[in-house]
Amino acid sequence: MTALTVALVLVAAAVGVLRWRRPAWYWLTFGVTLAVVRVLVRYGSVMDACGLTVPPARWRLALARATNRPIPGPRAPRILRLRPTRTGLVLRLKLRPGQDAFDVAAASDRLRHSFSMYGVTSRELRSGVVEVRMTGYDVLKRVQMPAKTDTRPMRVPVALRQDGSVHYRDYRAIPHALTLGATESGKSVYQRNLVAGLAPMDVALVGIDCKQGVELFPLARRFSALADDPDTAADVLDALVARMGRIYQVVRAQQRIAADVPDAEIAADIWDLPTDLRPTPVVVLVDEVAELALYANKEEEKRRDRVITALVRLAQLGRAAGIYLEICGQRFGSELGKGITMLRAQLTGRTAHRVNDETSANMAFGDIAPDAVLAAIQIPAEMRGLAIAGDSSGGWHRIRAPHTSLRQAVNICNRHADRTPDLPELAPFRPALSGSADAPVPAAKPSPATA
Ligand SMILES: Nc1ncnc2c1ncn2[C@@H]1O[C@H](COP(=O)(O)OP(=O)(O)O)[C@@H](O)[C@H]1O
Ligand SMILES: [Mg+2]
Repeated sequence: MTALTVALVLVAAAVGVLRWRRPAWYWLTFGVTLAVVRVLVRYGSVMDACGLTVPPARWRLALARATNRPIPGPRAPRILRLRPTRTGLVLRLKLRPGQDAFDVAAASDRLRHSFSMYGVTSRELRSGVVEVRMTGYDVLKRVQMPAKTDTRPMRVPVALRQDGSVHYRDYRAIPHALTLGATESGKSVYQRNLVAGLAPMDVALVGIDCKQGVELFPLARRFSALADDPDTAADVLDALVARMGRIYQVVRAQQRIAADVPDAEIAADIWDLPTDLRPTPVVVLVDEVAELALYANKEEEKRRDRVITALVRLAQLGRAAGIYLEICGQRFGSELGKGITMLRAQLTGRTAHRVNDETSANMAFGDIAPDAVLAAIQIPAEMRGLAIAGDSSGGWHRIRAPHTSLRQAVNICNRHADRTPDLPELAPFRPALSGSADAPVPAAKPSPATA
């Protein structure tokens, strides 16, 4: 008897420690079974208590009276499916007449407490069917990406969402994106994850890192062009604009359309070209964009205008030529001068890490999702890497990228170094690499002026 008691106490203690230290393992071992039992046993009473039931239909009442049976109780939405996942449960519900998806969304906090889950979100799948996603623990505290993700060309699984699903950066759906955040909020780590995710794909990477190149130069083996000061950046961007023009000529030649067909009618892009003709898509990563927009004298002002004009042109026309912009900065508003708000309007994807004030959050979401602004200001300083990701449809999610160290990213880039395409336009900006494969940090930046 005492042995049994001791064994039970030990198991309970082990489960407690597991739950505290390794919530993901706890969930996979005990948590998921307990949660399924809890949801199934409590379902009826919880739905009733949360106001998600409807009175029985009249014909049921009449039938009960006629046959002298007990009067039927209120009815909860029918469970169509209950699916355990790596991080929680997914419940698919068929609503009763008179209920709507908003009722479920409004009750999600009550459901969370009643089922003792960490988070509950819901969305309508189709008319009358609602999916309720529950997470068993704080999945963003220690981000672990699932081993298998749905990979497609130009679509990078970059972070985990609060509801446990994977957040993708899909360049073909959202060509250009803006990432904002105060210093030390996790922008560079997010960008590093993107580079690591893009490295195994058929894509050319171009980096502009005016912080002396500290973030991107260690990854140089996978980059087709790198710039670490505004002057080189201006040359790189001009070369990209020239490349864009040439790609449009290729697309146009392939279509064999007479020159008098209006441009608007030949909506086509590089993905419509046959594979052997298709130019390599290019992702342009800009870290600390404000460095490109600041100037101290007339000459720098000229360069700044050149840079911003090139960025605006790439943002407006780059998508069809397979040139995608990924811009990071601390602030990105009209105080950086003319052209900035025009550029921002072209950057569809928006991600905001922790920001210090509402105006910075407004630069990311003010024009698309006002409630995301509030969520961005509320990110706690100690949760670095936590971010709000939205797009121009007004939807947004809380996301966090895994903490990829610079060393891990360097290793991934070195492993895929042979995939780095040589783009003729960008050849002068190709980082000069020192000989051995395990010397990741390249020599000083190549500059066309000194080359
Ligand atoms: N997703 C993350 N998970 C855990 N820690 C993170 C994450 N992102 C950033 N950090 C921490 O925050 C620090 C600063 O991140 P960094 O990306 O360099 O900030 P920023 O570029 O915004 O100044 C990193 O050194 C890292 O320790
Ligand atoms: Mg940074």
